[in-house]
Formats: sequence, structure tokens, C-alpha cells
Amino acid sequence: MASKQAASALLSKGLPWMTQASQNHYAPTGKWILGTAGMVLGMIHVGGVTRLTQSGLSMTSWSPLGSLPPMNQEEWETEFARYKEYPEWQQRQSMTLSDFKFIFGWEYGHRMLGRVVGVCFALPWMYFTVRRKIPPGYQKRMVGLLAMGGTQGLVGWWMVKSGLGDDRRSDRNEIRVRPIRLTAHLTMALATYGALVWTGLDLLHYPHNNNTKLQDMVATLSKESLRQARVLRTKSWVLSGLTFVTVASGALVAGNDAGRAYNTYPKMGDEWIPSEIMDLSPWHRNLIENTATVQFNHRILGATTALTAVTLAAIGLSPSRAAALTPQARKGLYAVATAATAQASLGIVTLLTYVPLSLAALHQLGSVAVFTSGLYLAHALRYARPALVRTATATKSSAVKSSAETVASRMAVPKR
Ligand code: HEM
Repeated sequence: MASKQAASALLSKGLPWMTQASQNHYAPTGKWILGTAGMVLGMIHVGGVTRLTQSGLSMTSWSPLGSLPPMNQEEWETEFARYKEYPEWQQRQSMTLSDFKFIFGWEYGHRMLGRVVGVCFALPWMYFTVRRKIPPGYQKRMVGLLAMGGTQGLVGWWMVKSGLGDDRRSDRNEIRVRPIRLTAHLTMALATYGALVWTGLDLLHYPHNNNTKLQDMVATLSKESLRQARVLRTKSWVLSGLTFVTVASGALVAGNDAGRAYNTYPKMGDEWIPSEIMDLSPWHRNLIENTATVQFNHRILGATTALTAVTLAAIGLSPSRAAALTPQARKGLYAVATAATAQASLGIVTLLTYVPLSLAALHQLGSVAVFTSGLYLAHALRYARPALVRTATATKSSAVKSSAETVASRMAVPKR
């Protein structure tokens, strides 16, 4: 009876957020980590606008600690003259100093914001360490998160460098960074963002994150309820992985400026599969440099991600299954279906309208929304982790066995 009540408590309340410091000693740490994730999201957005305004190659040198921007007319002239030494200038000879200040401003802002995020991570980390507000076992994660952030700066410069040579791309012969490096830069940013979100969610659910507590709760659930949660958890990870691959393919579209070709949907021009899809050789160059192929791949992956999210939600939220899930898992299912459908629709509108800056920037942010909802869903279902389920089931069956033995020993008629 008591265990039935506990089961219904888990299914009706789930594993709620613990945001008050009075309930959860690590709540402030969790808020800080999620705040940092929000800043990384801001970085991704500013990076997207920097690319869309074609500002990314305006700063031709890099120092890890950064530098002040030009302060007076003379310094601006010098910076502009330096820019003119690189091939991108050849294609922009009508640019004025004031145009240059605009593109420099975006790139400078993007780089400086990266350093601000680093400081906003490192200083509170020290503070929370001294105040013993980093839970046991989490210091390694913090080191990993800082390393990911630091590497991101290096990858950014590696990307910019690929655009400073005379490497012309596509039939417009434009100077651009290598699409594969742009993809590495965006996907690494997303991975860092994802790791921050996951850690923040862990910390803001802290007492429920303790394995023993979770095991006790899991042991109250029926076998069927656990089975469903386990299957859904696996699928939520598949969806998050698929979203990640779709994001990478989107970055290849952006890097090749492939969104401004084949602006029709669902067909690409007059064809379902464009004939030039394997034009480059060796064949694998098509996957990263062929405008038709990268756009085709992104269409297929985008539609598959949206379809997977909707199917997952339809199955998980069907009346017979929804009752066996926690409220957070149900919310997660609604979120993935809504975000992925909106994102795919926005992608189509962006394509049909020849990639205006506002829609393209929104489409980039939308991809982070889809990824975040997938992570939220997977996190809400963490109680169905195989290791936890195995231990809980083993504990349950040994408890049943021992209570059966007790009953049997009580019922046994003593021999005289
Ligand atoms: C869940 C599905 C989708 C996700 C997660 C996604 C994600 C992305 C990402 C991350 C980018 C790169 C943005 C940037 O770096 O600026 C991108 C670009 C793009 N996507 Fe999608 N996308 C999805 C679906 C679609 C669909 C269905 C279409 C239309 C057929 C589409 C059309 C485009 C276009 C045209 C671009 C290039 C925009 C630019 O040059 O800035 N997307 N997508």
C-alpha cells in the first residue's frame, strides 16, 4: 500500500526543480551554471549575426587575452589598412571606413563576449568552491567545461584563419572560411552549451539526483512504467543526437551559403534529388562542399528530426502511456514536438524567402531550442537509467523474496 502511494507520488509530482537554497544547498550553483549556458546561447547568436553580416574576417589577428578596439581615427585607419592586406578586401573595394567599423564591431563583440563568458564562469567557480557549493564529484566536470570554453576560442581562430588566405568558394568565387571549420565551431559551441545545461539541471534537482534516492523512488514504480520510461529515455537520446547532426548539417548549409540556392520546397528546382549531387570528386567532398548535396542533406535531416520528435510525443503522450510518465517527462515531450515542428517550418520559410538575416538568425536560435528540449526530456527521464533500473529491480525482487520467505516461515506448521 505504502509503496503504491510512493509510486503515485513519483508519477504525479515527478522530480521537481529544487531552486530554493533552503531545500537545495547547490541551487545557487545550478542557477549560475544555467546563467552561463544562457551567455553561451548569446554567444551563438552574436556569432550567427557576425556570419550573416559577413563580419567574421574583419579582425585579422588574435591574442588569447584580447585587446582594446581602435580608439581614435588614426588607429581605425591602421586597422582598416591591415584588413585591406587580405584577399576579402579585393571583393569589397567599395567599403568605407564606417562600413568597416560596423563589421569590426560585430567580430570584436563576438570575441570579447567569449572572454566575458570565460570570466563569468571562472570567478564564480572559485567562489562556489571556497563556499563548498560544488557537490562531490562535480569538480572534474567544471574543469571539463572550462576546457571546452577555452578550446572554443582556439577553434574560432582556426576557422577565421581559413578565410584569410586566397581560398575562393562556390561559383561566386567568394572568400569564405572553410565550411567544415565553421561546422566544428558551431557544433563545439552547442556541445559546451549542452554540457552546461545538463550540469545546471543536475544541480537544480540536486537532492533527487542522489543515486540512492533515485533508486528508492524507482523501486516504487511498476515494471511496465519503468519499461516505458526506459524505452522513451533511449529514444530521447536518439532525438538529441539526431538534432546535433542536423545542426552540423545546417552549419554546412550556412558555411557554403547553400541557403541561397534551390529556393523551392519540397522539390529542389525541378528535381526531388538534384542531379549535381555527386559532381565533386573525391565523392566525400560533396558532403561538405557541394551546395546541392549539403542543402539536400539538411532538408532530409531537418524533416527527419521534426518527424521523429512528433512521433515520439504522439507515442509517449497517448492516453495509455502518458499516465506512466512523470509530469516533467510529459512537458519534455510537448516541448520537443513543438520546437522541432516550428524549427522545420521556419527553415522552409527561411529558404523560400532567400535567407533574410532576421529569419536566418531566428532559425539558428531555434536549433538550440530543439536541442534544449531534447536534453530536458532526457534529463526528466534520468530515473530510467539502465544502471538505476537494474539495481532498483534487484532490490525489489530481493525484498519480495525475503517477504515471501517471512510469510512462508510464519505459515510453516512446526513439526512436533
Ligand atoms: C529540426 C530541424 C532543423 C534544425 C535543428 C536546423 C538547424 C539549422 C542550423 C543550426 C543552421 C545553421 C545556422 C547558422 O549557422 O547560421 C541551419 C541553417 C539553415 N537551415 Fe535549418 N534546421 C532544421 C530544419 C530545416 C529545414 C526543414 C529547412 C528547409 C528545408 C532548413 C533550412 C535552412 C537554411 C536555408 C539554412 C541556411 C541559413 C543561413 O545561411 O544562415 N532547416 N539550420
